[in-house]
Amino acid sequence: MTAAALLSCVNLSKYFGALAAVHDLSFDLRPGEILGIGGPNGAGKTTLFELISGLNPASEGRILFEGRDITRLSPEAICHAGIARTFQLNASFDKLSVRDNVRVAAYFGRDNRIVPGLRMGRETETHVDAALDAVDWRGDQHMLAGQLPVLDRKLLMLAGALATRPKLLLMDEPVGGLNPQEIEHMMATVRRIAASGVTIILIEHVMRFLVQLSERVMIMHHGEKIYEGPPQGLVRDRTVIDVYLGEGASQRLSALMESGA
Ligand SMILES: Nc1ncnc2c1ncn2[C@@H]1O[C@H](COP(=O)(O)OP(=O)(O)OP(=O)(O)O)[C@@H](O)[C@H]1O
Ligand SMILES: [Mg+2]
Repeated sequence: MTAAALLSCVNLSKYFGALAAVHDLSFDLRPGEILGIGGPNGAGKTTLFELISGLNPASEGRILFEGRDITRLSPEAICHAGIARTFQLNASFDKLSVRDNVRVAAYFGRDNRIVPGLRMGRETETHVDAALDAVDWRGDQHMLAGQLPVLDRKLLMLAGALATRPKLLLMDEPVGGLNPQEIEHMMATVRRIAASGVTIILIEHVMRFLVQLSERVMIMHHGEKIYEGPPQGLVRDRTVIDVYLGEGASQRLSALMESGA
């Protein structure tokens, strides 16, 4: 682990029976960085997020956040320490309004609440406003979450994560299912969040999104890291092309990065 790392995963493994979903994985994350994670279906990307966020404990290895060992902490304790995440599939309270969804996150996501739900004070409301502003929420805050269109659902999930005031934000496929215009919108949103000082790890299959946003990219395959480095190196890496990108996608990405688009 380097001294300046915000997050360090050290020889991390997760076994489901005989399957090593994550296998002996180590990497560091610098404060302020955007790290992009790609890789084929079943590579272990979401499982890695489960381990970091504590939803599923690691079988082996250690996770350090700001130098503190968080490997065995509960998901709540990890969230309170400053790590928030969004999910591959939408995760919101569908029968609650937009604002109430973010209120719940702002209230429970930051501190231990021994007597839940008695009073959400002015401070909570301020954090809710800030989180909705951070995703540039323009819609009706009283609408039920279950009635929102797809981009808004993703933005709401993001606002909920931000309402916990994270230092590190984990985003699992933030643009899955979005059209090109919506992808642009999400890209601008992620850039704004990063500029506000939040460190980000994002998992994404949409490679254009991944390479344009990430300063560093990690590609996983069978639970292991097969590439770690700048996005530019990705399109020239033989293993990455063979197991993941394919020749065509690699050439298109290469052209995209050269054009600086
Ligand atoms: N709770 C679980 N129990 C058993 N096996 C699991 C569990 N969660 C994940 N797996 C298996 O672990 C492997 C990694 O899954 P994971 O969801 O982490 O992949 P992924 O890289 O996120 O894939 P995708 O791109 O499709 O989202 C897969 O083979 C999956 O079936
Ligand atoms: Mg996944």
